[in-house]
Amino acid sequence: MAKSHVTTTINGDPVEFLCETQQTLLDVLRDELHLTGSKEGCASGDCGACSVTIDGRLMCSCLVLGVEAEGCSIETIEGMADGEKLHPLQQKFLEHAALQCGICTPGFLVASKALLEKNPDPTETEVRYWLAGNLCRCTGYDKIIRSVQAAAEELRKG
Ligand code: FES
Ligand code: FES
Repeated sequence: MAKSHVTTTINGDPVEFLCETQQTLLDVLRDELHLTGSKEGCASGDCGACSVTIDGRLMCSCLVLGVEAEGCSIETIEGMADGEKLHPLQQKFLEHAALQCGICTPGFLVASKALLEKNPDPTETEVRYWLAGNLCRCTGYDKIIRSVQAAAEELRKG
């Protein structure tokens, strides 16, 4: 079958790709564009490891087709750091040891960034609810929640 030609913006850069109609955006990111930061935990929308934002909305990239990304602006974990400078969320995850195996971490970071862009001063409950779609089987979540709140505080200070 002929591949579809898709034009997008990824992490601020214009990106074009060819994909099969049944290929998910996650597969395109990882297999065609070699942006392997987004992880596949379940491929069914249950774990959040594949989280990206599409036109500012947090989405599971395993539930989106590559062809559906036509004309969209996508942000992935690869766009989070500013060159060598980590985003405050990344820095706080490191400082609070909020990761072990790391499979869930890109998804948590992307989802947390989307939260802080909407709500710069979330309560612990709000952070927990927002991240309810992201699963981690290593950390027990508390360190992740504390990292997000610490990053929020730092971002509020400017
Ligand atoms: S891989 Fe997409 S939600 Fe789990
Ligand atoms: S650090 Fe292993 S799943 Fe979260």
